Amino acid sequence: MKAASMNAHPSLVIGEPIEIRDAAAEPDAMVRFEGISKTYPAYRGKPGVNALEGIDFAIARGSITGVIGRSGAGKSSLVRLINGLEKPTTGRVVVDGRDISALTGRDLRLAQRSIGMIFQHFNLLSSRTAADNIALPLEIAGWSKADIRARVTELLELVGIADKHDRYPSELSGGQKQRVGIARALATRPDVLLSDEATSALDPQTTRAILDLLANINRELGVTIVLITHEMSVVRQLAKEVVVLDAGHVVESGHVADIFTHPKHPITQSFLAEVTGDSLPVSLVSRIVQEPGSHAVIRVQVRGAGAGDTLIARLARELGLDVSLLSARIDEIGGQPVGSLVLGIPGGDSAATRTLAWLSQYQFPAERLGYVA
Ligand SMILES: Nc1ncnc2c1ncn2[C@@H]1O[C@H](COP(=O)(O)OP(=O)(O)O)[C@@H](O)[C@H]1O
Ligand SMILES: [Mg+2]
Repeated sequence: MKAASMNAHPSLVIGEPIEIRDAAAEPDAMVRFEGISKTYPAYRGKPGVNALEGIDFAIARGSITGVIGRSGAGKSSLVRLINGLEKPTTGRVVVDGRDISALTGRDLRLAQRSIGMIFQHFNLLSSRTAADNIALPLEIAGWSKADIRARVTELLELVGIADKHDRYPSELSGGQKQRVGIARALATRPDVLLSDEATSALDPQTTRAILDLLANINRELGVTIVLITHEMSVVRQLAKEVVVLDAGHVVESGHVADIFTHPKHPITQSFLAEVTGDSLPVSLVSRIVQEPGSHAVIRVQVRGAGAGDTLIARLARELGLDVSLLSARIDEIGGQPVGSLVLGIPGGDSAATRTLAWLSQYQFPAERLGYVA
């Protein structure tokens, strides 16, 4: 659908063609949700909750896939289905070719060793040192003391806190605690790492460092990462694929760069507004006012490195406007260049409204930021 309407204007399409994939049919999936619903039963007078419904998608082996949604969307329920902590009400969850929803007891515990998980509040044992927290899953798996010692040393190095071996959680910063959490999750050499809001309790700088670490782990160990978050900035920094969840349904999914340039669902658009809001140069922000001035200021997102020039030329030609470029930046999102242009549109409100209508006709996400004198 998207591809067809864009093909009518091929000069605006720069970059990879948009693929429409049937995720559930993907052959090399690490995780596959098949006809999943999850209903929590009524309990002590509280009504039952349909947390997930009609979920069918696949997560590719070796990928970093973001799952984004507001609080209550069903994200945590979705991850707990992947590691078998919850059973689906209908459907199956196939992990690495096996139906994890059908496993119980020892079979389930063995399967869970190949699925690591990290949490928002780290879930470390306060009575154990960093090293002993990381050792825990290995003790449970029955490793020898010597093997545990060697593996823990290796893991502490991998996550960059070799010097914190004997520190207790209370002596560590949030970022260091999450590094311990990551080391513990990777201890049994899992194929999948589930991250449930793992950076939500961290400041932006620490978040960046932890996301960089996860990117390295994905690249060097080939671990498939499922990144649950309510923050688009996290998806944008780390994931290549994204699934947008709302009220228990998948409302949109695909390559991160496509979703950033052509968000279809209002929920996705509102997530994007949060991350693009902070990207203007300070010198420009200070000039933007809300009372009408000589130029309206419009921000527009384009996909592909050269797409900005093409867009400005077409605007000038088709609308007869002398558009000025107030600022431009190109980010790499999901491995593809995505440009954010800020345009100055002369000619008062009607010219700005015509410009916005034109941009929306060609499915460029755009918004009016205000005016400059
Ligand atoms: N163990 C549970 N028992 C009953 N209801 C639950 C349980 N876990 C989650 N829910 C409900 O399911 C819905 C989805 O919750 P959750 O999966 O935690 O969403 P998210 O992680 O996106 O915030 C919410 O309405 C929540 O209250
Ligand atoms: Mg949650």
